[in-house]
Amino acid sequence: AVPQSYIVSLSHLSMKPLRMNNTCIVPTLLMLWMVLSGSASTRAEEVEETEDEREFDYMRGSEKGPHHWGELKKEWSACKHGQMQSPIDLSCARVKIIPRCQLLLTDYFSSNATIINRGHDIAIYWKGDAGSIDINGTEFFLKQCHWHSPSEHSINGRKYDLEMHMVHVSMENKIFVSGAFYKIGHRPDRFLSQLEKEIEHLVDGEVERQIGEINPSGIQTRGNMYYRYLGSLTTPPCTEGVIWNIDRKIRTVSEAQVRLLRKAVHDHAVRNSRPRQPRNQRDILYFRFKSRAKSKK
Ligand SMILES: *[C@@H]1O[C@H](CO)[C@@H](O)[C@H](O)[C@H]1NC(C)=O
Ligand SMILES: *[C@@H]1O[C@H](CO)[C@@H](O)[C@H](O)[C@H]1NC(C)=O
Repeated sequence: AVPQSYIVSLSHLSMKPLRMNNTCIVPTLLMLWMVLSGSASTRAEEVEETEDEREFDYMRGSEKGPHHWGELKKEWSACKHGQMQSPIDLSCARVKIIPRCQLLLTDYFSSNATIINRGHDIAIYWKGDAGSIDINGTEFFLKQCHWHSPSEHSINGRKYDLEMHMVHVSMENKIFVSGAFYKIGHRPDRFLSQLEKEIEHLVDGEVERQIGEINPSGIQTRGNMYYRYLGSLTTPPCTEGVIWNIDRKIRTVSEAQVRLLRKAVHDHAVRNSRPRQPRNQRDILYFRFKSRAKSKK
């Protein structure tokens, strides 16, 4: 499509020389102008495209930063007006000892997956059925997982180097996210190790890659203690009603792995962590399983 500005200034330019009654100069000027403005408008379009692609960002002071997400689109208003937003600080949780039968019942299996650079993060999407998790009788199907660094949630005020989210959706479109924290240590994360080559391609500019069968069971998220609370998605549209389940166990990731993830995402999302949101009297449950004590009896 020809930009509006192109048409307007073209008619404007061609009128002036015509009045000057110089038939020779007009085509030359016009040609020169078309060449110049042609390249200028291409540049303008490129800028526009990169801006369109970046619907929101994580930069402090940016018009598209976390404090403005709720104003950028009508559908994103929950980011500003929601009362159950995520992430939050996980503290003063109500401890609940629960029987082993209420352990997370996951039933994941290998399925063909795609790795995508969403600009604001790196995500794995399972195309087929990658299995599900059973939460109190409701089945939530695994759709994708992605990473934030530094972590979005914190435990008693402490943030970690990386946080992974596995997003599940039920038949009724309810969302369940299981999260895990990582701190930089000597042991790399096994799941990320498996994906390093693919992420390198995303650093080099590819947006999406088919990566064959990926088994979600390779993501270690089943500890014996976890936090649960009701919150939202941590990116626009900040949809509420999300059941959060965050593992208490802190895993390790190598510094190189965190660096790679940060290198792959766009510059405006190198630190892709939404600021913590008000808790607003929400209950945080801390589930613990008494498996060892039980087996001693
Ligand atoms: C994944 O894709 C390959 C090639 O298209 C196919 O042969 C294989 O059966 C798929 N695996 C699953 C679990 O669907
Ligand atoms: C499980 O669901 C039942 C009814 O569907 C409800 O009464 C109960 O409180 C739920 N338990 C938990 C832990 O959410």
